[in-house]
Amino acid sequence: MTDAETIDIDIRVNGAGRRAAVAPRLTLADFLRVTCSLTGTHLGCEHGVCGACTVLLDGEPVRACLVFAVQADRGEVTTVEGLAGPDGELSKVQAAFREHHGLQCGFCTPGFVVSVTAFLAENPKPTDEEIREALTGNLCRCTGYQGIVNAVRAAAQDTA
Ligand code: FES
Ligand code: FES
Repeated sequence: MTDAETIDIDIRVNGAGRRAAVAPRLTLADFLRVTCSLTGTHLGCEHGVCGACTVLLDGEPVRACLVFAVQADRGEVTTVEGLAGPDGELSKVQAAFREHHGLQCGFCTPGFVVSVTAFLAENPKPTDEEIREALTGNLCRCTGYQGIVNAVRAAAQDTA
């Protein structure tokens, strides 16, 4: 603790070290969006339901609105900004979402892309039923989900 109100943290975000003195109640989502200016992580419900804030913490998908930044201290965080290649080339999942119309307004998209990236790393050849099951943690108000399912299927075939 640097003083009564802040705690020093050191988190690797998309491969870069980020040190900050943060309030204990600061969420990881606000740390990423405000402290790190990584606004690709979206906030919808802010209570763990919509999945828009999904990021990877030590390789596992977490809802950044439900994790305090101090809980991620010394951890490795990957946000949607960290999924593209160094030259900006879209990841296979990102490219598949674009190709197969897996988004409309795009608000939910970062959460879906991060969740699907983690899902396909675990299960590279999912069935459609497994894809639909995997998507239940993310809400989309625009697409009707069919384009998203198609994108996940295509990304899986592309990575298989
Ligand atoms: S903003 Fe985190 S789950 Fe909705
Ligand atoms: S594309 Fe609009 S909420 Fe999903």
